[in-house]
Amino acid sequence: MSFDPRSIPVDPAASAALARHGLEYRLLDPDDHEAMHAWVDAENRGFHHGRPREVDRAYDLAVAAERHVHGVYDPAAAHPAVPVATVDGWPTGLSVPGGRSVDAWAVSAVTVAPTHRRRGIARALMEGELANARSAGAAVAMLTVTEATIYGRYGYAPAARAATITVDRRRTHWIGPDAPGRVHFVDPHELREAAPAIARRAVARTPGEIDRWPGFLDRALGLVDPDGDGARGVRTVRYDDEHGQAQGFVAYRISREPNEPGFVEFDVLVAATDDAERALWRFLIEQDFVSGVRGRLRSVDEPLPWLLEDPRAATMSDVVDHLWVRVLDPVEALGARRYGSAGTLELEVADPLHLARGRFRLVVGERGRAEVERLDDSDAARAGLGLKLGVQELGAIYLGGTRPSVLARAARVTESAPGSVALADRMFAAERTPHLSIWF
Ligand SMILES: CC(C)(COP(=O)(O)OP(=O)(O)OC[C@H]1O[C@@H](n2cnc3c(N)ncnc32)[C@H](O)[C@@H]1OP(=O)(O)O)[C@@H](O)C(=O)NCCC(=O)NCCS
Repeated sequence: MSFDPRSIPVDPAASAALARHGLEYRLLDPDDHEAMHAWVDAENRGFHHGRPREVDRAYDLAVAAERHVHGVYDPAAAHPAVPVATVDGWPTGLSVPGGRSVDAWAVSAVTVAPTHRRRGIARALMEGELANARSAGAAVAMLTVTEATIYGRYGYAPAARAATITVDRRRTHWIGPDAPGRVHFVDPHELREAAPAIARRAVARTPGEIDRWPGFLDRALGLVDPDGDGARGVRTVRYDDEHGQAQGFVAYRISREPNEPGFVEFDVLVAATDDAERALWRFLIEQDFVSGVRGRLRSVDEPLPWLLEDPRAATMSDVVDHLWVRVLDPVEALGARRYGSAGTLELEVADPLHLARGRFRLVVGERGRAEVERLDDSDAARAGLGLKLGVQELGAIYLGGTRPSVLARAARVTESAPGSVALADRMFAAERTPHLSIWF
């Protein structure tokens, strides 16, 4: 999706809320290098990172130039050109069940300087991003979070989880099938050519994954600073299928002490097919002179234990509520995905911010396609099956990551007639467990 970051105007409500505190809310011009430079430095400070090296700053600037970037400025601060708060957002695709994608607005870089905390700056920024998302025509907004207590108040809810998978090399004996293709060591530059197409197909088949932004793969493959200490240790391997078609890749590092076996770590294993996923896992865990393998932000439904003689060789830790989704337009959002079962369900959605509230009728046919209509006050409630839920609960069930019946047990969803929750469970089921494998 091509996007001009300057195409959406500054949200007047956020601007007025900040002005009441003597603060200025500014949309940055990507060509204003000085302002962008100060913004990138403030964002790094906000996330408690060190001062960026020139090479990292150049990368951050290139990424930010493609986004809708806001800063909050305090004219009375010692350095008024340095923002006291940052946020950015951009329109992008979010994969939803059925191999489809919904127009979404990603929010990132939310920071407030410790000198300016707890005076409503984050609230103004978050409400501003919801307004921007609506101006961009997004059906949902989404983000990844450092803390789980911040974003529920704006209507976001956990929609796709992720976990760290650690494999004990000494206990692994592969019992899965042999892959029909083969793995190759490839140079990261060479892999960079095939990687975008593989990543696109991998994203499309997994609900919860988002489109990768330009430059993402440069960072993932260690190409931003190839001579840096981190990047020099990155090894890249590609899987080609039996027809020689590239179908997956992994970028990993091995850390080790002298005379000790190494330990394999990876953040990026991208597979467009199940064969590729199995072959890359097998490559990683069958290496000699390593004691274990650790992959971060993996699916909580990883098939790996079923491929090992001793399934306990693979353990899961750090299970997190990784992707948070906020539904903005229920008609668009619900109509974009495919459903696990046919049926008719009425949803009565409450939303404290009044963005997604209303009554909606969801009619799903035999092939999983939905017709969604907003009901108005004159539409009498049918005696049929339906759910009463909040916008957060709608976000939680949207991708199929949480069953409506679990939320009903938590008293967060109620049914209008017996059988509604059971039907909703069947309808909202996804063909693959939702999963997001990156931070954004
Ligand atoms: C999290 C952060 C952005 C909050 O900024 P802030 O301007 O102090 O927040 P606000 O004053 O606008 O508070 C908005 C609401 O969030 C709540 N809140 C703020 N920070 C919170 C936190 N860390 N945990 C839980 N609630 C929090 C406030 O109590 C307030 O609630 P209310 O509106 O319901 O009364 C800021 O502390 C920060 O920059 N942290 C470090 C970077 C970070 O973690 N960013 C989040 C990236 S996902």
